Amino acid sequence: MQLFACSGVRGAVSAAGRRGISSSARRAQQAAKAGLVVGMYSSHRLVGASAAGLGDAQQLALVAKARALGFAGKAGQAQTVLSDDLSQQVALVGLGGEGEDRVAETVRTAVANGVRQLRAGKVATIAVAPLPDLQAAAEGAVLAQYAFDAFKSAQARATAADPQEARAAEVRLLGPESDAWAEGRVCAAAQNLARDLMNTPANHMTPTGFAQRVEAELAGLAGVEVCVHDRAWAEAQRMGGLLAVAKGSDEPLRFVEIVYRGAPAADAGVALALVGKGITFDTGGYSLKTGRHMDLMKGDMGGGATVAAAIKAVAQLRVPINAVAVVPLCENMVSGRAAKVSDVYTSRAGLTVEIMNTDAEGRIVLADALHYVIDAHRPRAVVDVATLTGAMVVALGERYTGVFTPSPRLWGAIETAGAATDEPVWRMPLDDAWDAMLTSPVADLSNIGNRSEAGACTAAAFLRQFVHAPRLAAPAVLRAQNADDEAEPRWAHLDIAGPMEAAATAGYHQKGMSGRPTRLLVELARQLAREPQK
Ligand code: BES
Ligand code: MN
Ligand code: ZN
Repeated sequence: MQLFACSGVRGAVSAAGRRGISSSARRAQQAAKAGLVVGMYSSHRLVGASAAGLGDAQQLALVAKARALGFAGKAGQAQTVLSDDLSQQVALVGLGGEGEDRVAETVRTAVANGVRQLRAGKVATIAVAPLPDLQAAAEGAVLAQYAFDAFKSAQARATAADPQEARAAEVRLLGPESDAWAEGRVCAAAQNLARDLMNTPANHMTPTGFAQRVEAELAGLAGVEVCVHDRAWAEAQRMGGLLAVAKGSDEPLRFVEIVYRGAPAADAGVALALVGKGITFDTGGYSLKTGRHMDLMKGDMGGGATVAAAIKAVAQLRVPINAVAVVPLCENMVSGRAAKVSDVYTSRAGLTVEIMNTDAEGRIVLADALHYVIDAHRPRAVVDVATLTGAMVVALGERYTGVFTPSPRLWGAIETAGAATDEPVWRMPLDDAWDAMLTSPVADLSNIGNRSEAGACTAAAFLRQFVHAPRLAAPAVLRAQNADDEAEPRWAHLDIAGPMEAAATAGYHQKGMSGRPTRLLVELARQLAREPQK
């Protein structure tokens, strides 16, 4: 009764309030709802202003306003001013010195800052003037518009300062249509999808939920086939590792397999296989994590999220390549059925593993997935992506992804892709020395190193065993592969425990789960597509 009366009254008041606004005030408010992003070098030269229809006088007035406000066009700076005719809010964004390198990153950050300022000014539409890198400009705009509010109640959203503000503004590019702009939108939207998958709480983003969302996102894309496998399939595949981790949870496991056929030749093989860690929540199992930061572990499927999102973008962009992504999905929980420390399981590769720490679960599920994807698809390159070790966070922190690969060629491609997308990577060592730390007195391997050092490196060394395992029957070939980089498949392991989360909102980065390195993976596929597709 009380509640009913309240809501009725509130509705009536706001309707009266709307009637009370004078028509001129409403016009001014509406006018200011148009936003424009224009670049400015530190030389005070405007970029894109003419394309935005601003005449010489208007441009001079803008520069004068900017100067008066102390805006110097430095990279990372942004300043919003009202245009002289009051028709639009203009966000001037700093591009730094003319001819400086790292143009893409400067533009990506500049547009993101401009879009953020205009949205704070409650604009409904944003026009972006053509800036030096249109792909980066689109990425900045789309990444900065990301909001994760799916779990705010409708009531909380309605009472927020302005519901319009919560909604993304419509963004368009001024000037002629541009492929680069369209591609930037696709890449950034893919990263936003990965952010969504990672940010969604684990009671909603279960293995089943993840698989359903991926199926829905990829439905209808040309050349794409999605297969969602269940426990019976994993049993038939003898994926003892995935089964050992999954059995501790009431949530059924899933194994998502995405195949994209984009190579022009009908007989072309798979050039790239991606494998993403898909632990939808990691409690640590009986080697239980402490409470601090355990919430972060809803993002422990970040590898799976980024590889699935990347394949979506690759398909949307119609990259001429055959590529596959697989994601082993389960929870790492505590229960009467959960794995215990010292349990031994048999992996798909046939290697037996003693689980000396149930919190080292990522490598266990990845090992089976790596072995499967190499067996089933014979890819020329295989790249696994995983929020794998706390040690990686200690070593490199948030900005860099650690890359372990024996292949100089694959490393070169990944490094180039990282530079192009500003998702930087740092090469980490693989060395036989760490194999000696993975021994077990009762099984072929232990799932953790028996010395508390080089945690990210021993994890990589564990995975390497399974990349080589299909050829264990022929030891000579294995030795050759260690020495000869061009042996296939070329393999790289990306430990993304550091970049999985952004600590703060700045530029196109947004506090929360990052969705990185989705754009790097898309760029990597584009690069590999330039190699001969046999
Ligand atoms: N998912 C974690 C790694 C992690 C930790 C990612 C912190 C992001 C932030 C992984 O499953 C894990 O628990 N690894 C253990 C391995 C150890 C038991 C050898 C770790 O790093 O502590
Ligand atoms: Mn763990
Ligand atoms: Zn984990």
